[in-house]
Parts: sequence; C-alpha cells; structure tokens
Amino acid sequence: MTIIKRPRRMRESSFSRALMRENNISVSNLIYPIFVIEGTGVRQDIESMPGIQRLSIDELIKDASECHQLGIPAIVIFPYIEKKLKTKDAREAFNYDGLVQRAIKKLKSDIPELGVISDVALDPYTLNGQDGLVDSNGNILNDETVEVLNKQALSHAKAGADIVAPSDMMDGRVGSIRKILEENKFINTKILAYSAKYASSFYGPFRDAVGSSESLGKATKETYQMDPANSDEAIDEVKLDIQEGADMVMVKPGMPYLDIVFRVKQTFKKPTFVYQVSGEFSMIMAASLKGWLNQDDAILESLISFRRAGADAIISYFALEVARLLKSKT
Ligand code: PBG
Repeated sequence: MTIIKRPRRMRESSFSRALMRENNISVSNLIYPIFVIEGTGVRQDIESMPGIQRLSIDELIKDASECHQLGIPAIVIFPYIEKKLKTKDAREAFNYDGLVQRAIKKLKSDIPELGVISDVALDPYTLNGQDGLVDSNGNILNDETVEVLNKQALSHAKAGADIVAPSDMMDGRVGSIRKILEENKFINTKILAYSAKYASSFYGPFRDAVGSSESLGKATKETYQMDPANSDEAIDEVKLDIQEGADMVMVKPGMPYLDIVFRVKQTFKKPTFVYQVSGEFSMIMAASLKGWLNQDDAILESLISFRRAGADAIISYFALEVARLLKSKT
C-alpha cells in the first residue's frame, strides 16, 4: 500500500514528537493556592483535599519559599477565619491586622520577589458564607457589598499584595476597586478578575478548607455566580471587567469550562487565567489514590489541556507538586 500522508510518521519517535509539540506546561505558568490559618507551627489536613493543608503564617512562609525556589511566579492566599470573627457586615475582611493582611506583610518582607495574589470576597467573613452582604430577606446586596470589597482590596494593597483578585461576582466591583487603588496611588497593584465564575458544584472541597460550607448550608450562589449553561454571558462579563480596568481575566472552574477559556482568549487576546478548582483536584486525587488513574500523568494532561485551550496561567493545587516533578525531569 502506498500512503503519501502518514501522520504516524511524526509520532514514531520521541524526538519528532517533541519537535512538533504545540503546547507546553512550564513552572512559570503555575500559581499555587495556599490556605492560611491562625497559630504557629500549624499544618492541618483538609479531609476532602488529600495532601493539601491549612498553614499558619510561619508554615506558609516555608511552602511559599519552596514555590519561589522552584520558579513558581505567584501564590494566592485564602484564609480560614475563626467563627468568632464572622459577622453580618464582614468587617474583619478589611482589618489591616487581620490574618490575610498579616500573611501578605510577612510574605512580602521575607520573599519579596514572589508574587502575592489576594482573594477579594466576603465568604470567609460572613455568617452565612455568602460572598456578599445580605438584607433581611436574604438577598445579596450588590452595591453595599462593593463598598466593603473596596476596603478589603485597599487593605490588601496597603499590606503589599501585588495582585488583588475579586472572586465575588458582584456587578461593578472591578471598576470600583480600580478607582480606589488609583485614588490611593496603588497604580501598580494589578487586578485579576474572576470574570467568568460559574455557580459550580466543584467548589465543595474549597468551602470545607475555608470553613464556609457549614455557614452556607444548602444555600447557593446562583444570584451572582454564572449559570453553567451559558457561554455568551461569559464573553459579556469578561468584556465588562476589561473595560473596568482588569489586567487579567479568569475562567473558573477549569476542565468543565475549556470552551469558555478558548473563547475568552480568542475574543480578547488578554492575559487569560484558569482556575483548576478544588473539586477538580479532589476528583483526580480520589481516583489516583484508588489506583484508578496514574496521578502524575492525569495531572499533567489536565494542565496541558488548559494551555491548549489558551490559558496563560493556571491556578492549581497541583502547582507545587508539578513544579517538583518538572524539576526532577530536567
Ligand atoms: C469564594 C471562592 C471560592 C473559590 C475561590 N474563591 C468558592 C466559592 O465561590 O464558593 C473556589 C476555589 C476552589 O474550589 O478551589 N469567593
């Protein structure tokens, strides 16, 4: 048989596969999320996220240093807030001496070159685990919430955050935070907007990690996070955030929303990040621990899929492990 075009010819050896590889995953594409908790010497397991722990600030510095040494450009921090500090008005969110603010200060003084991203949202601080303030009927109050988010973002910037990342999905918050930062001369503080954030069931383990599942109970976030059925709406959300002054936009979750990552990157050609969320992490871990998946292979394949879809950077709970893996291969 004579076949002129044989696609398998290039797949035949490892060198030719390497030469035609269209995408790659490098440590510089990775962002590592870390959960921070009060105390010293604390490393607390999170049952639904095998291998991930809540760390006190001193322990956080150790893991952050390893990230920096391995070449991970930035970390993002999420707090586990003690029950007694949760209030209806979420005022702890903008306490300059709060847990997150202290973690940022310590990170910037000990490891100044490591990028620090802070989460701007009220869910760790509210009594009901919602990202916003609520009225007496339980409705999420948009504009009142944005006022608190402004204060929270400003307190993070003052503490030294390089990037503030509003993950709350209130309307108008990116523009409002940008204005506050400009007015206070934080002209280089970057905004990573969770622009297309879906009301997803894949956030479950994260809510355990930050201790908001209990507060949230059976309630949902569907009045502010997006409907998983929608795609055009994501384009609209991203467009607004870019107009309002976002430096980077994000799609979240990751693997179930690769079509959105692709569309957003193709449409706007802006720095486009993706969040491989806790549920995605836990699915891969659970199957790997059962011996049903090869853990390293499954992780790397999931990450390359984000790059192929167009993501510039990936927030992943696997980031530290992958950075170690990539280093061992070189
Ligand atoms: C809350 C927030 C969530 C995540 C990041 N910020 C959860 C939520 O919206 O309920 C999820 C991250 C993950 O699942 O890994 N503002």
